[in-house]
Amino acid sequence: MNWYTEQSALDLGKQEEILKNYKIPRHIGIIMDGNGRWALEHGLTRTEGHKQGIDSVRDIVKACAQLGISYLTLYAFSLENWKRPSSEVGVLMNLLEFYLKKELKELHANNVRLLAIGKISSLPKKVQRLLFEAIEITAKNTGLTLTLALSYSGRWDIVRAVQMISHDIRNGKISPEDITEELFSTYLQTAQLPDPDLIIRTSGEMRLSNFLLWESAYSEIYISNKYWPEFRREDLYHAIKDYSRRERRFGKISAQLKEDEVKNINENILIKK
Ligand code: IPE
Ligand code: IPE
Ligand code: MG
Repeated sequence: MNWYTEQSALDLGKQEEILKNYKIPRHIGIIMDGNGRWALEHGLTRTEGHKQGIDSVRDIVKACAQLGISYLTLYAFSLENWKRPSSEVGVLMNLLEFYLKKELKELHANNVRLLAIGKISSLPKKVQRLLFEAIEITAKNTGLTLTLALSYSGRWDIVRAVQMISHDIRNGKISPEDITEELFSTYLQTAQLPDPDLIIRTSGEMRLSNFLLWESAYSEIYISNKYWPEFRREDLYHAIKDYSRRERRFGKISAQLKEDEVKNINENILIKK
């Protein structure tokens, strides 16, 4: 139950090594893909693949919390996924219900704050109720912020933001000249989250599939060839190490980044004095 006392010495050692030697992303987003193909390759039904995927969710959430990562956003169901056969959609909704019921206590006990983004009103009423309950119960937790992207689409969120901005203009709350990138971001459902530093996609597919389109402008992308049901903490550690080796230039050139670093160090020294 307590994620911080149950850890094996071997795993603790690996995490300590990562924390000491690598840059840790503040916000990780994961496109959990490949449940169906994993199942097919193992002679199982797609349902079994989705069930197995929950074990990966558990392990990755736990590992992120133990590493002290601040934000984890999991893409669990896209707005487009409603187009799948209704039997599969039903299975996914049942699993979501099962996950929320079963995990809430443990998430809460381990200081996880739960959030959800997406068209939540399109989810079954029972799931909505469980979700709101879980969000309310964990609202004051200060550990990992776990955001579930459910019935989510990046384009949908952007259009929704434009609609809300238009209303506010019509009501005289803001004028078109007030619209900046910063203001626009506050209308997105992700307003309270920093942009993702690292986006992981499993199953080898190289696309975003409508995940955090606005927010991923400068995210580092890591593709794992493993299917989601076989993606576990070791793979997460690998992704973090890979991320840590990258140079994030945000449009600048390498030499400027070095200068910025020196400037930051000097400023920190001044603040400390
Ligand atoms: C990810 O696995 C789960 C969801 C998108 C809900 P998939 O169900 O997409 O599995 P593949 O990609 O068909 O193998
Ligand atoms: C992306 O997976 C959505 C989620 C992981 C929830 P999909 O399996 O739906 O994506 P595509 O259709 O292969 O792009
Ligand atoms: Mg898929």
